[in-house]
Amino acid sequence: MSGVTIIGSGHHVPGAPVTNDALARVMDTSDEWIQARTGIQQRYFARDGQGPSDLAVEAATKALDDAGVEATDVDYIIFATMTPDYMFPGSGPLLGAKLGISGIPALDIRQQCAAMPYAFQLANGLVQSGAAETILLVGAEVHSGFMPWTDWDVVRSEAEREISPRAYERANKHRGLAVIFGDGAAAMVLRRSNEPEGGFIAAELHSDGDSFDHLFVSGCGFRSIPYVTPEALLADEHIPQMRGPSLLKKAVQTLSRTVNSLCETHGIAPEDIDCFIAHQANDRINRAVRQALKVPPEKIPSNIARYGNTSAATIGILTDELRRDGKIREGDLLCFLALGAGLNWGAALLRL
Ligand code: UT7
Repeated sequence: MSGVTIIGSGHHVPGAPVTNDALARVMDTSDEWIQARTGIQQRYFARDGQGPSDLAVEAATKALDDAGVEATDVDYIIFATMTPDYMFPGSGPLLGAKLGISGIPALDIRQQCAAMPYAFQLANGLVQSGAAETILLVGAEVHSGFMPWTDWDVVRSEAEREISPRAYERANKHRGLAVIFGDGAAAMVLRRSNEPEGGFIAAELHSDGDSFDHLFVSGCGFRSIPYVTPEALLADEHIPQMRGPSLLKKAVQTLSRTVNSLCETHGIAPEDIDCFIAHQANDRINRAVRQALKVPPEKIPSNIARYGNTSAATIGILTDELRRDGKIREGDLLCFLALGAGLNWGAALLRL
């Protein structure tokens, strides 16, 4: 039986790009370090007041247009984000309202950077069960809200001045985290494939709550009463803590293992996969995964240089670019793979 496939896609990033040199104005880092350790050259940041649902509406409009369907044809929204507009409700209903389609089910999912393999399995299940026909799948993030600086005009190159030693010291404490994330949104319109063997094939998904402290926000959660305090903010507990090197190792080991296991279960040879659409957390992760899977570089494309890590949005942004550039086409066998906070990770196979 055929599974869900991508019939339209779009993406949106806010404002002008912020270069590595611009970040080096507010903390002790450099273009050379960031490029060598991550592959990132620039990223985008939303403005105060601009939430993920605002970025998502732009991406969704492009995706609907690309699919040739009206917003009113959508009967289910899946919204993946770890940086919602509000603590609650989720951003899915907000997007529905902004698109003028309030009333349909809208589900927020919390798999962070690993959202897309989970979302494809979920969307496929909804369509197979008859609960939905046309799904709008969105990944959108505004990480700007946890960036460790307040001198946004300097970061955005709108002002040229020395920042205070205290502000510099504060940003520096979080420099490993701050240089990798950027804001953006991607949307895909999903429907059952018309091809008998087309669309979603299978996913292999995992989680490991024992490793939650590899990437998490220690404060501003409902373990505390009240859930946010001035002290927590002063202690920067709203800024994620990340065990970068250990996370990097886990990603390399688990992602190649998961892809191999998924392929073996479904009788697919990794070399038969036309394109591996991997989460964009760090180019070093994807290079190592590629070597472990023994696939040529052109089969694991990268766009991290231009966007940084946009968490739940990376896979959708890359998929949209590849579709629009004709680098992935109908009939291609795709493998989506990602690991993120939770930890959550997984891979999904889909025949376009
Ligand atoms: O998307 C969700 C999942 N996230 C990930 O998968 C992230 C995975 N991890 C990573 O991408 C990398 O670990 C980072 C990019 C975060 C860090 O790169 P790394 O090669 O693991 O660096 P490190 O943390 O081991 O730090 C190496 C050195 C340290 O200095 P010393 O102690 O060797 O003197 C750091 O203090 O680099 C220093 N450093 C920096 N230097 C300049 C850390 N961050 C920076 C920075 N600029 N931004």
